[in-house]
Amino acid sequence: MSTSHASLNELWQKQSLSWEYGAAASPDIEDVPIRVFPAALHESGVTEIIKLDLSDLIGTSTPATTPSLLANYLTIQAEDHIQIAEQTSSEVYFVMRGQGRTETEQGILEWKQGDAFTLPCHQGVTHFADVDSALYWVHDGPLMSYLGVHPNKPRFESAYYSKEYLDGEISKIREAGIRENRNRNGIILGNPASEKTKTMTHTMWSLYNVLPKQSVQKPHRHNSVAIDLAVSADPNTYTMIAKEIDEAGNLIDPFRAEWKPNSVFVTPPGWWHSHHNESDVDAYVFPVQDAGLQTYLRTLDIQFIKD
Ligand SMILES: [Fe+2]
Repeated sequence: MSTSHASLNELWQKQSLSWEYGAAASPDIEDVPIRVFPAALHESGVTEIIKLDLSDLIGTSTPATTPSLLANYLTIQAEDHIQIAEQTSSEVYFVMRGQGRTETEQGILEWKQGDAFTLPCHQGVTHFADVDSALYWVHDGPLMSYLGVHPNKPRFESAYYSKEYLDGEISKIREAGIRENRNRNGIILGNPASEKTKTMTHTMWSLYNVLPKQSVQKPHRHNSVAIDLAVSADPNTYTMIAKEIDEAGNLIDPFRAEWKPNSVFVTPPGWWHSHHNESDVDAYVFPVQDAGLQTYLRTLDIQFIKD
C-alpha cells in the first residue's frame, strides 16, 4: 500500500463511528411541535418575507417549519415588488389577499385572492402587487438543504389554479360529500407530472378542503407534516390535535387550533387530528404537506377512525 493510500485510510478512519443498536435505534431527535402563526404577522404594512421558522425547535441548520418544508408569509404593499430566490424543487403559493403578478422566466402570471400556483426548480421570480397583497408560500428548500443539492432540473411544469377553478371543482363534490357523510370534502390539487402520487408536486401535497357548517371531520393521522392555512372560517371552527387516541377513537388531551382566516397552524407527523365547524358558515382550509415525498417513499400511512 502506498503512503498516500495509508494516509487516506487513516484520515477516513477518523470519521468512522458506531453505536450500540439498542442505544441508537430510536435516536432522541427533536419533535415537530404544534405551532400557530397568526395573521397579524403579515399585517404589519411593509413588503417582506416572514419565515414561519421553527429551526431552533426542530434542530435544522437552515430556516424550516418542518424538516422538509419552509412556510412563509409574503407581504407586498401596493405598487411594490419583492424578488425571491431560494434553492427549491417545489413551491406552492396561495394568494391570501390582494392581486398582482409574478414575473418568471416563462412570462408573467397574474393572480388574485383565492388563486394558487406552483413553481418547480426555482431560479428566482419577482412578485409585483397592484394593491396590498399577502401570499402564503411553502417550499421544500429545507429538504434541498438537508440533501446538500441545488436542483437543476424541473420535475414538473408550473400550474395555476384560479379561485374560480377551485370553487367550481369543490362545488361539484360538496353536496355528495355531505350526503354520504364523507370524512373529507375536498379536492387534492394535481399536476400531470404527479399522476402516480396524486399530489400537487412530486414532493408537496395540497388539498382545497371545505368543512361544511355544523360538521365534524373525524380524526385521522398521516406521517406527513401538515402546515394548514385557514382560508375562511367563522369563529368556533377549529382542529383538535393529539398524539394519541383512546380505544373509542377519541383524542387524548388534544390541542385546539382555531381556524382564524389567513393564519397557519402546524400538525406534527403522525398526530391524530379532527376538524370541527360549529358555526353556520362553510369554512375552507388549504393544508400543505410533504406528502408527495411520503407517498413516493410509501411511508405516508394515512389512517382514519373507523365509523
Ligand atoms: Fe390531515
